[in-house]
Amino acid sequence: MDCNLRRQGVRLAFGCAWSTLMAMAAFGQTPSTMSMDDKAVERRVNALLGQMTLEEKIGQLSQVFVFAPSKQVDEQVAKGQLGSLLFVTDPARINSLQRLAVEKSRLHIPLIFGFDVIHGFRTIFPVPIAMAASWDPSMVSGAQAIAAKEASSVGINWSFAPMVDIARDPRWGRIVEGAGEDPWLGSAMAAAQVRGFQGESIGSPDHVLACMKHYAGYGAAEGGRDYDASNIPEALLQNVYLRPFHAAVKAGIGSAMSAYMDLNDVPATGNRWLLHDVLHDDWRFQGFVVSDANAVKSLATHGFARDLSDAAVRALNAGVDMEMAIGTTAYSQNLAAALSSGKITLQRIEDADRAIIGMKVRLGLFEHPYIDEARAARILASPEHRTASRLAAERSAVLLRNEGNLLPLRKSGYSKIAVVGPLADSQVDTLGSWAFQDDVTETVTVLAGLRNKVGSQAQVMFVPGVEISRKFPSPFDQIFGSKPRTPWTPEQAKAELKKAVDLAGSSDLTILVLGEAQDMSGEAASRESLALPGEEEQLLEAVAATGKPMVLVLLNGRPLDIRWASQNIPAILEAWYPGTQGGNAIANLLFGEAVPGGKLPVTWPRNANQTPIYYAHNTTQSPENQGRRYWDEESTPLYPFGYGLSYSTFSFSDLQVSQAQFKIGQTVEVTAEVENTGASTADEVPQIYIHQQYGSASRPVRELRGFERITLAAHEKKTIRFRLGSDELSYWSAAKKAWVEEPARLDVWVGADSKASLHGSFTITE
Ligand code: BGC
Repeated sequence: MDCNLRRQGVRLAFGCAWSTLMAMAAFGQTPSTMSMDDKAVERRVNALLGQMTLEEKIGQLSQVFVFAPSKQVDEQVAKGQLGSLLFVTDPARINSLQRLAVEKSRLHIPLIFGFDVIHGFRTIFPVPIAMAASWDPSMVSGAQAIAAKEASSVGINWSFAPMVDIARDPRWGRIVEGAGEDPWLGSAMAAAQVRGFQGESIGSPDHVLACMKHYAGYGAAEGGRDYDASNIPEALLQNVYLRPFHAAVKAGIGSAMSAYMDLNDVPATGNRWLLHDVLHDDWRFQGFVVSDANAVKSLATHGFARDLSDAAVRALNAGVDMEMAIGTTAYSQNLAAALSSGKITLQRIEDADRAIIGMKVRLGLFEHPYIDEARAARILASPEHRTASRLAAERSAVLLRNEGNLLPLRKSGYSKIAVVGPLADSQVDTLGSWAFQDDVTETVTVLAGLRNKVGSQAQVMFVPGVEISRKFPSPFDQIFGSKPRTPWTPEQAKAELKKAVDLAGSSDLTILVLGEAQDMSGEAASRESLALPGEEEQLLEAVAATGKPMVLVLLNGRPLDIRWASQNIPAILEAWYPGTQGGNAIANLLFGEAVPGGKLPVTWPRNANQTPIYYAHNTTQSPENQGRRYWDEESTPLYPFGYGLSYSTFSFSDLQVSQAQFKIGQTVEVTAEVENTGASTADEVPQIYIHQQYGSASRPVRELRGFERITLAAHEKKTIRFRLGSDELSYWSAAKKAWVEEPARLDVWVGADSKASLHGSFTITE
């Protein structure tokens, strides 16, 4: 990306740090490959296997959490009884544990250190759903490359990311960790993250092994209840839920994590069809599979395995190579006996070893087991990483409403600005879940960002107004030692609300910062409602009653019920959990130094009762014929998938299809003209959707098949091109139980969101 070109953008102050982010993603176009000679790896691993005892072979298949230094773990490592540890992040401790493995264990096999590097390590980037909202895979790749650089500097070799679960029910808390509802966008984000984490090939310096999770179907948990069973027909699995996993495999991912839940009555962690037939036979996956935490042991809880021994046998035989557990693994306790009784084979244990130790060889752990602690400290402090995080947050925000062009704000336009809301000055809530290694004190809140921006030009005053907390505490509070918030008394609550209304009433502008606290979104953070938590809605409506100009900034990891705000608050900016530099990014966006260009990666429902709701649905009865689907609420969402406004405006015209008719297997080109019809440089994301009118199975009304985020100067026009070939046009047919590309007539639309009206069509023939 040319910095000079960027600077010409009147309001885009991205600067040259952009090039850092892009450089981190420079390899963005090619898959991350296994570069080392396969034969050489195999020879080395076989030589080791020839010397390993059964206990050592089983040891490599075991991974345990280490929350605090443990003598027992030290001893197990020195005896070669563990292959991997997770949650150790202190570089000195990692070096000392690695020394035990490399210098004290009999065969000197290094440990592989894993950690959840989900959206940054020390520098926290926007949460994954936010990064998906950027519709900018190169940016996402660059962000994960920075995360990989920071994590690998302290000795982490393996990230439990990307999470590529499709999520169509925003009640599910883990929707925040993925790329939203769509398999095409999800696949692009999956591949981008694999390249970011792993670099050009597994073992690239400053990179880590990536792990796609949670394989597979976790996002379809019934009722959006985390960990509950998923029931997904095979057509939906193949066309939607598995697609981003396949994209990650094609991008060269080196590991996969099996999911917790039952998939169609067979737990994912004991599901040989998923872990073997699809992953290895169909996709030719070259890496290894780790279970989710304690997922092997819970096969007994599912009513699937008889006991822990049966659980270990069934997970291993299904294809789980490494078991992740708290305490001891079922593998270490049971596999030796299972081998003696013939329930598993030595061949299966050794195959799992080959995959794991082979990956350690490829990662270069045998040659470079230790890290330079002083270098780690320098990398973690990098100011460029903070700038990249700010840019990522600016590119991830979605402008939902901007009545009367209230935004962008003029810096000199206000003398007193009220900042209201419980999240406005909360550092931890600016980061979102899965932020453990950040220095929370450096997090820039919205309040701090606004103060940085306006300086002495306006007085910026803050009142939280209400406080919010979960009705039931998070199970992770205990593990991570989070302290419960002390609730306000009813008198205090009344007084605080009044303070907020008074402050808004005496200010020229109010910026309300509402949404969800960090622990309300993420794992074990599902909800039955999408309402603004606690008394936030009352605060919103009371503050709005002052009649002052008002902007609503949302910090959250899922769509919320903002029906009232969408009618009554003139400007709404979805900022998600924007990360370390969140406040500065939001201030830049509000004051027009960055222009919003993000688009929703998920359909925004009016309220929870409409869920699941997603754009790529089938239509079994025309809406005209049978009217509305609900008689008490619209059947449409509040905002469609792909939607997002800008401070500029864009028009789409002249859709051309290169051939009106073509044969199966050929490719058609679709072009359209996109024009920035406004007065400032801004980004747009042209999107292409298709619909197959008939075939062996019903197809969704629309399906995304391409997109590109582009920057256009005022009045600049560009021809945008999309190619549709077999990848885009084939689908898994429930009737034929196979991937098919069929003779049919297809509709195509190009535009700014999933409601695009610019239309064309073509025919595919035999
Ligand atoms: C989560 C995984 C995570 C693992 C290790 C589990 O509870 O489901 O996503 O990678 O813990 O922290």
